[in-house]
Parts: sequence; structure tokens; C-alpha cells
Amino acid sequence: MIARAIAATLLFCMMNSVQAQSWAWDDGTVPFVVSPEEVVDRMLRIADVGAGDSLIDLGSGDGRIVIGAAKRGATALGIDIDPTLVAKARANAAAAGVTGKAAFAVGDLFEADLSRASVITMYLLPEVNLKLRPKLLALEPGTRLVSHDWHMGDWEPDETIELRTPEKPVGLGGKSRIHLWIVPADARGQWIAEVPGHGGRWEFEIAQEFQAVTLRAKVAGAGRDLTVRATRLRGLEIKMAVTGLVGAKAWNHLFRGTISGDRISGDILVSDGEQQRTIPWTATRKK
Ligand SMILES: C[S@@+](CC[C@H](N)C(=O)[O-])C[C@H]1O[C@@H](n2cnc3c(N)ncnc32)[C@H](O)[C@@H]1O
Repeated sequence: MIARAIAATLLFCMMNSVQAQSWAWDDGTVPFVVSPEEVVDRMLRIADVGAGDSLIDLGSGDGRIVIGAAKRGATALGIDIDPTLVAKARANAAAAGVTGKAAFAVGDLFEADLSRASVITMYLLPEVNLKLRPKLLALEPGTRLVSHDWHMGDWEPDETIELRTPEKPVGLGGKSRIHLWIVPADARGQWIAEVPGHGGRWEFEIAQEFQAVTLRAKVAGAGRDLTVRATRLRGLEIKMAVTGLVGAKAWNHLFRGTISGDRISGDILVSDGEQQRTIPWTATRKK
């Protein structure tokens, strides 16, 4: 394994910019290449990792992401298929004084139980990310997923940052990208909302692909659809900006809510350009 890791590093040092495909060994596994410390820091920051988080690094290498998470107060686990790297990561964690918070296991990342993680980090390959995607999408809504460099196909990230990393021997031509996805709740379907004192009963029809939602909204009985200006689904949190006549007046409505199964509850920021108020709302998904 060590010989393989060294061979990989030498191979990558000879290449200025390589395509993702050429990273993988013939058997499809991912070689050991470290994320620069600055990238590790940005990966943990973009996911806002802190005490209370449970982080898993898939393919943990020398343990630097796990150790960084533990230093931020998270409980962190690294999984790597290479026992030599796991031993090295444990020694690095001991040297950093975080053995109580940082654990490492030898194993195949495809077999790992991810269900209790609040954050998952990866520096793998696009095709590995894609293979993992169904399992990642099925995690608890709100789980944060961070990938160094590689995407997840047509599942667009919620956020991406790019930084120059001249120290990196492989990848995107001296740059690193860091992508964040937040596992979205299931928002699709027809929802009936009760907004006492402001239109009464509202009807929403939500279509969804990953975290992108398309909304139709109307006040029951008023007939035509209202204008939907913007939507956002981020984990369990949904925001919908809807403009239209309620009563005799044109209003802007910013619906903010938390999805819990077949129920949404939250508040609406209502304004007509002159006055602004906040009113509660709840919605129930039609069976
Ligand atoms: C590119 S390195 C990333 C190391 C570390 N996460 C970082 O960012 O510095 C990928 C790691 O994945 C490990 N790996 C490759 N295939 C794996 C698999 N199927 N299961 C677990 N680990 C794997 C390799 O041994 C290697 O340490």
C-alpha cells in the first residue's frame, strides 16, 4: 500500500494538470493525495463544523480532515482502506492531542454506516462521488456534504468556493474547488397552508429536483396563480417569495418554514412597500 501511495504521489508530481479519469487506478480505487491544510480549513468552514457535529471523512489518508474537525470540537471518524494510512492518521491524531475526538477505522467507504454523521467530507473522484450519491441523498435532511474538487453530476452544489493552491501536485491546474451540498428534505407535493388573517387558505404545489424547487401558489378561492419570485430549499428550511393580491392589495410574501414530515411551520414576512409585519403559518401535505 505504501509503495502504491508513494508511486501515486510521484506520478502526480510529474503532471501539471490531470483529468479526473487519470486519477483512478485500474481497479477504480482512489490513490492517496493530501488536501492542502488551507483546503482542509476551508472545507470545515464551509460546513460550519463545530462542537455537536459528528463528521466522517471518506478516505481519510493521513487524518488531517478528521484532526481538523476534532480541533473544532466535533467528534470525527476517518475511514480508509489502507491500514498503513490509518496507523499514520492515529499517530498524527495523538501528536495533535485529539485522540478523544478523532477515531480511525480500516474499511471500505462504500460499506460505511453514514447514518449518524452530520457532516461528510470527501476527496475522492467524480465517479466515486456519483456511486456514493444515492446513499448520500438518502441521509437525514440537513446533513452537510463537502467534496474537495469533485462534483456529483447533475446534483448541483448549494455552495462552491475556489482558491489557488499552487502546492497541489494534481487536479485543477493549481486550483482547488470546495463544494457544499446540504441533503434536502422532501418538499414535493400539494400543500395546504392556513394563514389566518391573511388570505385564509393558501395552496402550494411544489415540484422538486434535488434541492431545486418549483412552486405554484394561490390563495384558495381567488382563482389565478400568484407570482413566485424565488424559492430556496436548504436541508429542512424552505423559503418562498410570492407576490400577489390578497384582499384588495398587492403584497410581497416571504414564507419561511421548517419541513417536518408532512408539515411545514414558520412565519411569513408580509409587506406592501409601506408596512411590514410577520405572521405565523403552517402547511400540511395532501395525501
Ligand atoms: C485523495 S486521498 C484523500 C485523503 C484525505 N481525505 C485528504 O483529503 O487529505 C483518498 C483516500 O481514499 C482512500 N481510499 C481509496 N479507496 C477507498 C475505499 N474504497 N474505501 C476507503 N478508503 C479509500 C485512499 O487510501 C486515500 O487515502
